[in-house]
Amino acid sequence: MRHLLTLADLTTAEIEQIFSISKQLKRKCRDGVREPLLSGRVMALLFEKPSLRTRASFEAAMAHLGGNSIFLGDEAGFGRRESVADFARSLSGYADVVVVRAGSHRTVVDLAEHCTCPVINGLTDFGHPCQALADLFTIGESTGKPAGQTLAWIGDANNVARSIAVGCGKLGVRMVMATPEKYRFDEQSLAWIRRQSPDLELIVTDDPFRAVRDAAAIYTDVWASMGQEVENELRRREFAPFQVNAALIERARPDAIFMHCLPAHRGEEVTDEVIDGPRSVVVEQSANRMHVQKGLLAWMLT
Ligand code: CP
Ligand code: NVA
Repeated sequence: MRHLLTLADLTTAEIEQIFSISKQLKRKCRDGVREPLLSGRVMALLFEKPSLRTRASFEAAMAHLGGNSIFLGDEAGFGRRESVADFARSLSGYADVVVVRAGSHRTVVDLAEHCTCPVINGLTDFGHPCQALADLFTIGESTGKPAGQTLAWIGDANNVARSIAVGCGKLGVRMVMATPEKYRFDEQSLAWIRRQSPDLELIVTDDPFRAVRDAAAIYTDVWASMGQEVENELRRREFAPFQVNAALIERARPDAIFMHCLPAHRGEEVTDEVIDGPRSVVVEQSANRMHVQKGLLAWMLT
């Protein structure tokens, strides 16, 4: 039994295998074919935080594969009504896989320790591995092959950035991060990323113009993630020079794509003209969440 708590749980070969299944399933889906590879299987979704894409894409993925989903929100009383161990053991009796979105990464690790079925991280404060998988798949689709490409990360060194960094290292993508000094990966995160992805080429700068120069993909995310709302005002001021706008995009390669995991705070980390502009792949990127999670579920459960 395998969990997916961070991208460190997958080897490069396994990621490539998942992408290959995802590609086939996406092609079939576009042709109107939805094979019931997971007929009768049950996926539980346990969410402590709001979600559109992660919840809907996982539920749609499971429906396409012929399985079923049980969504457990606040009323399940996770962390309040009983111990994590009792919750995990009971839920494992009903579900073949559990997708969990939690405020603290520790919660997901604890849950996985006690579940007797695979657990997938659907976002924590530490990482968002399913997002990074879909993003690297999207880069592969638009460039032909992720290896050898450069991704410019403009903004906070957050959960998504951490997962993308590990994924970039595993797939041979160079990562250039333009981040205010105070918001870069801390020493512990950097050491963890280096351990998981020793081959990662990571360049950190405070100049977004330098970061986008050779990039095939320009990626940003919100300046304040879920749970950091009290820092909104401060972060708005400190990240202002890191906005992805027309002036920044003009300095990028003409074929560079713009990416965002969504939800976006338009007018903050990205302007309307960029996110709605011709280089933006955010809609395809969000659709790929479903296609790649179909690949992941099929790989994990068949
Ligand atoms: N990108 C992403 O995970 O979106 P949600 O928060 O809507 O799930
Ligand atoms: N960094 C964001 C990602 C949302 C999908 C957050 O954690 O809120």
